[in-house]
This record gives sequence, C-alpha cells and structure tokens, in this order.
Amino acid sequence: MQNLVQFPKEAGPIGIFDSGYGGLTIYNEIKNLLPEYDYIYLGDNARTPYGTRSFNIVYEFTRQAVRCLFSQGCQLVILACNTASAKALRSIQQLDLPHLDPNRRVLGIIRPTVECIGEITKSRHVGVLATEGTIKSLSYPLEIRKLFPDIKVTGEACPIWVPLVETNEFASDGADYFVKRHIDNLLARDKDIDTIILGCTHYPILIDKIRKYVPEGITVLTQGAAVAESLQRYLQRHPEMDALCTKGGVSRFFTTESDGKFGNQASLFLNRQIEVETVTLI
Ligand code: DGL
Repeated sequence: MQNLVQFPKEAGPIGIFDSGYGGLTIYNEIKNLLPEYDYIYLGDNARTPYGTRSFNIVYEFTRQAVRCLFSQGCQLVILACNTASAKALRSIQQLDLPHLDPNRRVLGIIRPTVECIGEITKSRHVGVLATEGTIKSLSYPLEIRKLFPDIKVTGEACPIWVPLVETNEFASDGADYFVKRHIDNLLARDKDIDTIILGCTHYPILIDKIRKYVPEGITVLTQGAAVAESLQRYLQRHPEMDALCTKGGVSRFFTTESDGKFGNQASLFLNRQIEVETVTLI
C-alpha cells in the first residue's frame, strides 16, 4: 500500500492520462480552453490497447499511471481514456484515493460527454462507437439512462480502430474498410440513430474517414470540447483544487514507449514539436 508522504504536497500540473495517443485529442481541447495551467500528459503506449484487456488489468495499469502522475506532483488527474474511465475510475476513487491521498482527485470523461447529448439528439436514438471494454462495461447506456431515460443507446465495439491510430495507419486506404464496417454495423442495428458519440479518445484522429462513411444528417460527437468545458466548470466550483494546479502554461509529455517514436507521432497530432520523456510504470 502506498503511503501519503511519498507524493509532493505542493501545487502541481494537471495530469492527463491515456493508454496511448488518443488522450492528446482531449489534451488539445483542454489546453486551448485553459492555456494558463501546467499539464503532464502520460501515454501508456507500451501497453496499448487497453480496450481488449480485462477489468483487472485495466484497473492495475490505470492505478500505476495515476501513481506516476501523483509522484510528479499532479493533484488532479483526468483519465482521458474511456476504457480506463469505464473500468478503473470508480475503483480508484473509492478504493485507492483514500490510501494514496484523499485530497487528490481523479476524474473521468464519460459523464461530461453524455451530459450534452440530451440537447443534441432529436430522434432520441444515439449510437456509441468505442472499444470493446467500454461497450461491454455498458457505461454509456447506464450514464445516459441516468440523465435521459427516454434515449435509446446502441453500441458498437471497434477493436481495430485504436491499433490503426497507434500504428500510424489511420490515413491509409486499408483503414477505410474497418471504419466503414463498424459504422455500417451500428446503423444497421438502429436506423433511427441521429447522433453518434465517438466514445474513444483515439477516434477523432480517424475523423476524416468517419465523416466519409457517416450519412449526412447524423451528428458525430467528439469528446474534447465537452471534457474541457466540464473541467473549467469543475475548477470554478472547486477553488481549493484550482489553487493546487500550477499556472505556468507548461506542458510535459511522458510515454512508456520510446520517447522518439512518441515525439514524432504526437507532433503530427499536435502540429508542433514536443519534448518527450520515457517513464516506467510500476
Ligand atoms: N483511448 C482509449 C479510450 O478512450 C482507449 C484505447 C485503447 O487503448 O484501447 O477508450
């Protein structure tokens, strides 16, 4: 069991965690909305994808990532990964934070994503494209039902989409086949869907291909803006946490894989060169 004294107590950067590159789509929106804060982004690229892994493994890997970010001084960590939010968030909040440090916070991204859905869908039929882990957890239908019991939710797991992004094949011709197949599967199961949630942070990187195969008239919802706005409201509601987040406008990037590889790929998604450090999660 970790003890409380091992983590720095003073204010620190906001931690943003994903299994790989996908959380950069969330980081980008957060950084645009809240540029004054410091951030540490951590991608567990060495062990991605999480979407096909068991509950226990995702929980253990996510817990290691949270500990790593805490040891870097983060008082607030965002799980910018739906799979980790679906499978590990509640256990970390309820079982780990009381031991690690009850004053720190770990937040997920599913709730902020579904909060806006009631205003977007007119047909009240919503589709969710996500990893196998997120779909099987039923987190999206359960969260949506709590807020909007009249909305029917249909999910489709897209297990190959994350590897397409992680292996830099997201723009290749071959990617079209897999992108189209899962969109067609989803829409075949419910013809009244008028809104599709991209419930995996990697998927906005495939957005050009997704838009190509989603029929006109259907809204494709990415999560970044909703998560960023929700974080902004959270910091306004919790000035005590805001005071524990440093504001120097500096971002650092950590990966569990090669720093050079992460730097090249991430620079593409971010449109700028970045410095990257390799870390080991234990
Ligand atoms: N980007 C992550 C998500 O939002 C998961 C990707 C994966 O590792 O399978 O679910």
